[in-house]
Amino acid sequence: MPDKNQIIHLSDLHIGYQDCGTKAAKIIENIIKYEDPKVSIIIITGDIVERARQAKDFTLALELMARLKQGNFKVLLCPGNHDYGTGFINSRKNAREFRRLFIPEVANFPYLDIFGNTAFIGLDSNEAELHWYDRFFADGELGALQLTKLDKMLNDPQLKDKTKVVYLHHHPFSRLPFHCLKDSQKLKKVIENRIDVLLYGHLHLGLSQNNTWGIKIVLDGGSSTGKRMPEMFGFKIKHRVIDLADFSIVEKNYLGG
Ligand SMILES: [Fe+2]
Repeated sequence: MPDKNQIIHLSDLHIGYQDCGTKAAKIIENIIKYEDPKVSIIIITGDIVERARQAKDFTLALELMARLKQGNFKVLLCPGNHDYGTGFINSRKNAREFRRLFIPEVANFPYLDIFGNTAFIGLDSNEAELHWYDRFFADGELGALQLTKLDKMLNDPQLKDKTKVVYLHHHPFSRLPFHCLKDSQKLKKVIENRIDVLLYGHLHLGLSQNNTWGIKIVLDGGSSTGKRMPEMFGFKIKHRVIDLADFSIVEKNYLGG
């Protein structure tokens, strides 16, 4: 298998909420123990912490990211609404702080990484939700500028024969009031039939939605630490490993359940 051909998808760790920090630490240790960093890229689709600007939660989250990097794993992450505030009230100041600490290499979204034959494109689904009048609630909006840049990026000749993976926090198919990606249909127009994998989280559902928008793999990562994912409703903690060689998906549970 060529280098970095496998994606481990994590989402919504919510470090700082109840025992989510302990669970996140266990997940990371088990990934380091059982997975091969030569072939694995870890994508985390936001809500790494429960609340922005909680120093001890940021400290633990940064320690865990550092553990993965020390283990030679490549970590790609995009911000969730909780990373920029409380989950319901966000601010540009919090956004700047989170990005400075967690993703200093990212000047702007969409953000492109290329490994081997795969292009990974991260989006910030909070980007257009930080104005004074719509920074409340848990909606997402990519904004016209980010979508225009994404469209241009997908036309870039260097991406022509690459497998394309797009990841963002907000659930593009949600109709839950105050939790929607407001410009979901505009995103659809840009990526429909043009990318291979779409990954997201936000709703803590963890359900798969394959073959949507002409994309081979479309996956909701749920909450990897199980924040408010009641098993009685059939929501189970799953950690998905996607093999880009054949687009197969293996479900694992790094918590050992
Ligand atoms: Fe979340």
